Amino acid sequence: MKKLLKWLGLAVTGLVGVVLVGAVIVYFLSNAKLARKFVVNVRPVAVPSDAGAIARGKHIAETRGCAECHGKDLGGAVVIDDGAMGHVAGPNITRGTGGLPAGFGDVDIIRAIRHGVTPDGRGLFLMPAADFATMSDADMGAIVAYVKSVAPVNRPSDPIKLGPVARALVAFGKIKLDAEKIDHANVRPAVVTPGVTVEYGRYLAIGCTGCHGSNFSGGKIAIGPPDWPPAANLTPDPEGRISKWTEADFIATLRTAKRPNGTELNPVMPRAFGQLDDLELKALWMFLKTLPAAPTGSHS
Ligand code: HEC
Ligand code: HEC
Repeated sequence: MKKLLKWLGLAVTGLVGVVLVGAVIVYFLSNAKLARKFVVNVRPVAVPSDAGAIARGKHIAETRGCAECHGKDLGGAVVIDDGAMGHVAGPNITRGTGGLPAGFGDVDIIRAIRHGVTPDGRGLFLMPAADFATMSDADMGAIVAYVKSVAPVNRPSDPIKLGPVARALVAFGKIKLDAEKIDHANVRPAVVTPGVTVEYGRYLAIGCTGCHGSNFSGGKIAIGPPDWPPAANLTPDPEGRISKWTEADFIATLRTAKRPNGTELNPVMPRAFGQLDDLELKALWMFLKTLPAAPTGSHS
């Protein structure tokens, strides 16, 4: 009996040791990945200051989800607060105390949005820059104009503290920083003309790929905590509900966050997209209809 207990004790000590060593490795590996420096060449864009451009920037910001992570007033908001994933908040990006540092210029805002990189070269966590990287110069200029126009909010930015599961996912490459995914040398179009066209739909739909995947087949969202539902399959595959919808069903679902069958969309599906205008939603629908059918979750 005594011997057995001794063995058990040794086995438990060994296990705790392995877990501890594993935790230390994950900690250092994830730190190394998060500290990686990205040298990017930020091409300046013209930043207008007229009311029309600011209004356009506001519409883009509202429909790209900036407010979901940075708050309605852009003064910062908690996005993830979960034991496994940690505490992640979008910072205050206004000119108030606790907001963007003094001297954070247009180029620094563009570096964050297009490249997902801070002025000192660190890759931003969770900030979905890959969804914004291909935005036209005109739209980027409008967003910067809008961000600069909002009233200063005096609120300290909440520091990011990653939980053990998030660290493990970073360490083993399951969560990649957007800065790693973006082709930083990519040439962005100067202007993209809004219209009910497949091209404009494709342009807008890049903002869906962070969750619905590069081929829009949905499935598990890599960066999401365990309680996030899988993203829906948006391809014409019969597994996707949307394959049976009409354009009007699609538009009504985004606008009301309720499906044609009356069920509500989980709040992980950003309500912001419901503010896209008719032309934008029609273009998105037109583009989604051109996709090849793909089984749910069939993307890397
Ligand atoms: C899914 C959440 C999310 C969305 C959507 C989002 N951001 Fe962020 N953003 C973040 C987080 C989190 C950080 C801080 C990341 C870090 O420090 O590692 C950040 C950082 C920033 C920064 C500061 C960069 C720096 O160097 O300090 C700016 C500017 C910014 N975001 C602008 C925007 C704008 C504009 C939009 C909309 C076009 C937007 N963000 C959409 C989460 C988000
Ligand atoms: C932050 C992650 C995220 C982004 C970004 C996102 N979605 Fe979703 N979406 C989801 C999740 C999660 C669901 C499933 C919701 C549920 O199960 O209730 C969903 C569901 C949907 C549905 C309902 C389909 C069905 O079968 O029920 C539609 C339509 C949809 N998304 C369209 C879009 C479009 C279009 C975009 C881009 C403009 C987009 N989504 C961007 C996460 C996201």
